[in-house]
Order: sequence, then structure tokens, then C-alpha cells
Amino acid sequence: MNPVYGKVFLVVCCTLLVSVAGAPNACGKMDLKTDPFTCCTIPKLLDVSIVSSCFEKFPIDKDAADKGTGGIPKTECMSECILNSTGIYNNRGDLDEKKLNSVFTDSLPRDSPWLSVVRKAIKECSAKATKKDKEFVKAVADQKKSAGKGATVCNPEASFLVDCIHTTVFSECPLNLRTTTTECDAIWKFLKNCPFSALRQ
Ligand SMILES: *[C@@H]1O[C@H](CO)[C@@H](O)[C@H](O)[C@H]1NC(C)=O
Repeated sequence: MNPVYGKVFLVVCCTLLVSVAGAPNACGKMDLKTDPFTCCTIPKLLDVSIVSSCFEKFPIDKDAADKGTGGIPKTECMSECILNSTGIYNNRGDLDEKKLNSVFTDSLPRDSPWLSVVRKAIKECSAKATKKDKEFVKAVADQKKSAGKGATVCNPEASFLVDCIHTTVFSECPLNLRTTTTECDAIWKFLKNCPFSALRQ
């Protein structure tokens, strides 16, 4: 995996799952000696040059990941930047479901075993995002209130989707593409009940 892409995914997913979804209490941190991506190499679902340019515009500092400058969560703006640049958000900022499907699957070969995995992940994650819509609207309103006029406020929905799709795809890695080591097996067992964010390297 491209280092920037891998790093972005890990940071986005880790900060987001904790801040938005909240890890179930039973999920203590799991200390890893293994890079989860060696257990399953998920395909790059997003254009690396787009991810890199959004990462440059909204750099993520792991320690300050969900604070940003002036209390604006930068991961949210980075993800929004990705969805804007790919056209998943149209120029009015509305989610284009068709585009969401095509952007995340276009780079995959037609006979790719990942195609059905990615389509299913998009479906599940869109449904989850729809359920959380009120929560996202409220988060944006709260941020606007506290950040003041003219401040950049980004929709947490973008990070939720990017993260949810990648995490779901990783969790559903086809059996024949998994590396079966004791630690990798432990990771999948862990992910059945716990979020990716509880994995720590
Ligand atoms: C994404 O596009 C919307 C609508 O054009 C814009 O208001 C917003 O600032 C953009 N977000 C980022 C992070 O560039």
C-alpha cells in the first residue's frame, strides 16, 4: 500500500471510529506487532494523487488528529476534500450515490474478487450514514456555532463513509486472500466485534 494512503486510512479510521462511533466498552486496545495490511492487502479504492493532494491541503498530525487548528477536525476536511475532488459530493455538497459506487469500484478489474466486497461495503455504509444524518447535521451546526463566521466546517459524513467503506472491505477480505498467521487470525476475530480504531501498532 502507498505509504501516504495507508497512513491516511489508518489515521482517518482510527480517529473517526473513536470520535463518531465510539468503541464498545469490551474493546480494549489490541497491541499489534503485525501491520494489519500484511494480513490482507486491500486494493487502493481511491485515486492516490487525489488522496495525496487532499492530505497536503489538510495534513493530519496524529496527536492533534481530531482537533486541528482552532478545534476544526482536519480529518473531516481531508475526507470532504476527497469526496469533493472525486465528484462524490456534487458542487452543492450533496452526495451522489451513483458516483460513490463508480469512484470506489472503477479502478477494480471486472473479474476482481473485490468487486462484490466493495459494492456490499458501499451499500452498508451508505445505509449507516443515512441513519446518522441527523447526527452529522447537528455536528456541523455545533461546529459552525463554536467556530464563528467564515470558519471552515466540514461534514463528518465524509470521514464516516471513507472510513466505513475501507474498514468493511478489510473486515470482509476474501478468505483465499488472507494471510493466515496467528496474529492475523486474532485481528479478524477482534474486528468481528470491535472497530479498526482499537487496533494499535
Ligand atoms: C467541498 O465543496 C463544498 C461545495 O462546493 C465547499 O463548500 C467545501 O468547502 C468543500 N470542502 C473542502 C474541504 O474543500
